[in-house]
Order: sequence, then C-alpha cells, then structure tokens
Amino acid sequence: MMGTVILGTGSSLPKRIMTNKDLEVIVDTDDEWIFSRTGIRNRRIGGAGEKTHQIAADAGRKALEMAGILPEELDLVVVGTISSHMLMPSCACFVQKELGAVNAFAYDINAACSGFIYGMDMADKYIRSENQKKILVIGAETLSGRLNWKDRNTCILFGDGAGAAVFGHSNDSTRGVVGSNLHSDGRLWRLLHMHTAPSTNPDLEVPDNPGAHIIMEGREVFKYAVKAMEDSVCALLKQENISMDSIKLFIPHQANIRILKNLLERLQFPEEKVFVNVSDYGNTSAASVPIALDEANRQGLFARGDTILLCSFGGGFTWGASLIKW
Ligand code: UT7
Repeated sequence: MMGTVILGTGSSLPKRIMTNKDLEVIVDTDDEWIFSRTGIRNRRIGGAGEKTHQIAADAGRKALEMAGILPEELDLVVVGTISSHMLMPSCACFVQKELGAVNAFAYDINAACSGFIYGMDMADKYIRSENQKKILVIGAETLSGRLNWKDRNTCILFGDGAGAAVFGHSNDSTRGVVGSNLHSDGRLWRLLHMHTAPSTNPDLEVPDNPGAHIIMEGREVFKYAVKAMEDSVCALLKQENISMDSIKLFIPHQANIRILKNLLERLQFPEEKVFVNVSDYGNTSAASVPIALDEANRQGLFARGDTILLCSFGGGFTWGASLIKW
C-alpha cells in the first residue's frame, strides 16, 4: 500500500517586525492587554517584494530545496490564501511563475486558516490515486493589507507569512498522511468574514459594504474554535484508531494562546508536546500551520515514524485535523 509523504518543508517571513508597543501608537491598546489576551508579542508585516505570492514562492523554494526536487518536477501547486494581491489569476499561478514550475497546474483554496490542512488532504488524495504526482502545498497570507487598522479588536491579532510542504509518494506503508477530518459551517459566516471590493453591478452590491477587511466577533469565534478543534481531533483519533499518547508533536493553528490552552485542557493533552510560536508571528491564517510545521521540522522535534497531529479553525467556518506519520 502506497502512502503520501512530506519530502520537504519551508517557510518565509517578511523582514519587518511590528511589536505590541508599535501598535500602541496606532490604536488604543497596550502590550499587557494584547499579550495576556492572546499570547502575541510580535507579528511580521509585508513590505516591498513581500507580496503573498512572493513569500509563498520563497517558502516553496525552501521546501523544494529540502526535498531535493526541481520546480519542473512539480505536477501541482496549491496555495491556501485569502489575501492574494489579485482575485485572478490565482496566487498559485503567480507562485508557479516565480518558481518556474512549468509542468504543474496551479490553483488556490479559499478556506481561511484551514487552507493548508484542506490542501494537504487534497494532495494526499491526488497522490493516492495517481502515485507519481509531486505536489507543493503552501499556506500564505499578507493579512496586514486586509485589516482595518482602526479596529483594535482585529488589527492586533494577525500577521504575514508563508509556509510550504512538498508531498510525494512512498512505498513504505508505515509512513505518510494517515488521514484527515475536515468540516465547514457556512451558516456561521458572519462571525468572521471579509468582503471583496464593491460590485460594479449595483444589483449585486452588498448594502453598506464596509470594505475588504476582516470583521470578527472575537468571543463567539473563540468558543466555536475551541469546541470545533476538540471535536475534530477526537473524531480523527477515533477514526484512525490512534491514541492521544502516541502523538509525538501537536501542531495546532496559532491563533491565540488562550484558545490553545482551552483546547489542551479539554483534550487533556500535555503542553510540552505542543508546538507554539504565536508570540512571534500572531495569527498568520493559512500560513500558521505550515510555518509551525517547518520550524518544528528544522528544529528536529520529530523523526522518521513519529506521529504528528495538525489542526486548524478559521473563517467560513472551516476547521479540521490531520495526522501524519513522518
Ligand atoms: O483563526 C481564528 C481567528 N480568530 C481568533 O483567534 C479570535 C478569537 N477571539 C479572541 O481571541 C478574543 O475574543 C480576543 C482576543 C479577540 C478578544 O478578547 P476578549 O477577552 O474576548 O475581549 P472582548 O472582545 O470581550 O473585549 C473585552 C474588552 C472590551 O472593552 P469593554 O467593552 O469591556 O470596555 C474591548 O473593547 O477589551 C476591549 N478591547 C481591547 N482593549 C485593549 C478589545 N480589543 C482591545 C485591544 N486593546 N486591542
């Protein structure tokens, strides 16, 4: 039985660091409030040459380098993003161009913070059905360009960045993507959403379109996020008959340290086996899981055969969990 393995990972972060202190001069907030409510100290902000597709391509290049694969060998490029600089072409087509992945087809996934986990599931399914495929899955965002910098409820939370993984097949049935448990609930869209630019067809225009920036009811999102991630992790472990104890490292979506602590408490999962970098980057949406995966990989926090659990939650709502045997 053939499996889908990760051949290499990469990440890319804009150079500019924005601290909580920097935010104090933009909105009515302070470092103490932000850190105690979110666990965030710093976030990265994209600058010239750091558009979503540019940092996505940089992360992808590093993942290809680790995998020892040339861009021309890729069959598919998938980018999870909600902050590309254009609606068309896709961010993935720009990444394909930047990398010179001339033999690939390319498209985006709009699943907010769950974009990478959804993309990973698709890569697994493509590879299992056509085992020669080599697929680059990226999560990349520059949400700094999609924030209302006058809204202290949201602008303090998000940051820019990109993470990537190259997927391929392996004949070793003891390793690879074990499975996923994915969900959406469009009925709850209003709690976390972002409009596009106003429509030029007045009949299709959204009344009082507030502009293309994130709008969120933080408290409600918090509650749903904890419960949804708990449910999907438990369902996945049951589905794959894997015990909590056998997980070497848990890499959850890095949205907020209080969400993570609540989740761990409910799962009764030990904190020392959880990878956390939210204090450095804030919530990077679709990029958060693959950046954390790459950092954990480069720090040697897991080895061949170890079981890794990933999970995410975001606008849509979208959420899910995935298991990998490294
Ligand atoms: O991928 C999922 C993405 N979403 C998230 O991760 C967000 C999940 N939600 C949260 O993390 C939390 O709800 C927040 C961190 C956004 C807010 O924390 P909270 O404990 O739920 O605060 P709150 O919204 O209930 O607001 C409490 C108070 C309010 O003041 P009043 O009305 O009590 O006087 C807010 O106006 O805190 C005020 N406040 C702030 N004060 C200083 C809200 N934002 C700020 C701020 N600085 N940045």
